[in-house]
Amino acid sequence: MAQVTISFANQEHVTFEADANMTILEASERAGIPLAHDCRSGICRTCAGRSASDEELLLCSIRPQEDIAVRVPYDRAQVLRPVFRRAKITALSLLSPGVWHLSCRLQFPLTFLPGQYVRLSPPGSVEQRCFSMANAPRSGIYEFYIRALPSGIISDYLRSSAKVGDIISLRGPSGAFYLHERAAPKLFIAGGTGLAPILSMLSVLHEQRFDRSVYLAYGVTHARDAFGEESLRDLSQDMSLIAKVAAVYHGEGWDGTTGTVVDALSAITFAEPAECLDVYICGPMPMVNAAKSWLAGRGFSLDRIYNETFLPS
Ligand SMILES: Cc1cc2nc3c(=O)[nH]c(=O)nc-3n(C[C@H](O)[C@H](O)[C@H](O)COP(=O)(O)OP(=O)(O)OC[C@H]3O[C@@H](n4cnc5c(N)ncnc54)[C@H](O)[C@@H]3O)c2cc1C
Ligand code: FES
Repeated sequence: MAQVTISFANQEHVTFEADANMTILEASERAGIPLAHDCRSGICRTCAGRSASDEELLLCSIRPQEDIAVRVPYDRAQVLRPVFRRAKITALSLLSPGVWHLSCRLQFPLTFLPGQYVRLSPPGSVEQRCFSMANAPRSGIYEFYIRALPSGIISDYLRSSAKVGDIISLRGPSGAFYLHERAAPKLFIAGGTGLAPILSMLSVLHEQRFDRSVYLAYGVTHARDAFGEESLRDLSQDMSLIAKVAAVYHGEGWDGTTGTVVDALSAITFAEPAECLDVYICGPMPMVNAAKSWLAGRGFSLDRIYNETFLPS
């Protein structure tokens, strides 16, 4: 029997026992302590915590053989049970060969934390894929930016038959990647459609009239797949937002940085010392890892780096 101690972001701690054959998630449920989770199978990383030696631990997979302490990046009160909703598609457009914009209205409103995601299913399908809301939580409206893959459950549906008026279903909201209510200046790092949850967070900061520095480093492979330009321009009207966009491939007239998200990061001049910033990273695994390597050794506080990886879901 191992003792598991969970430390939440708000400094709350809980301890419970886990049998050798139980995952930490199962043991927490037996103890009546809800922890953030979704797929329960090591895919979504919603349950990720960090060990004392800063190793990432998926709590739905780890079966502790000895006492263990884990930090999780969310407050205890923010663990909500996902629910099922139907939603009507109100707008759908292909922004570029690589990105769809989808907007829908829920039949019954359901709020979420900026940064969270839901599992979407096409009409009549039980298949589900994870997508992050891109708008500020607003009564019943959910907006998404969806990468157009060559084939896939959602990608095929959007390409072949989706239309305004379709009823899709969603389950959520889920995810421990959300905007923490702190006055600290913020650095957002996004790759591809990883900008979606970051736009949601930026919109909320804008609504709150956040008056500290906000930095964004955004990287795309092809310049044509960069989206959100108009939103970022609007947001920077009333907020101190410094945004650098980088593309690996672009044509003439590109006024961003050439290269990856790391080149966008390197182009930022920070007004504050690194340890003052809260950092939010979202995108595909190689981009998230590259951003973390860049941050390492530059004085950023590990406990204030939050990230979400867009893995196949
Ligand atoms: C928490 C979370 C939030 C996410 N939010 C978003 C979001 O807001 N926008 C967004 O575009 N994506 C997001 N993703 C990624 C998205 O859920 C997956 O890419 C999903 O599998 C795509 O569904 P699909 O039906 O189009 O393709 P699928 O049917 O899932 O896959 C079709 C094929 O494409 C491959 N594939 C799927 N995803 C990827 C990928 N990301 N990179 C490379 N190959 C892939 C699969 O392995 C498979 O071979 C998120 C993922 C997670 C875990
Ligand atoms: S719940 Fe652990 S990876 Fe999804």
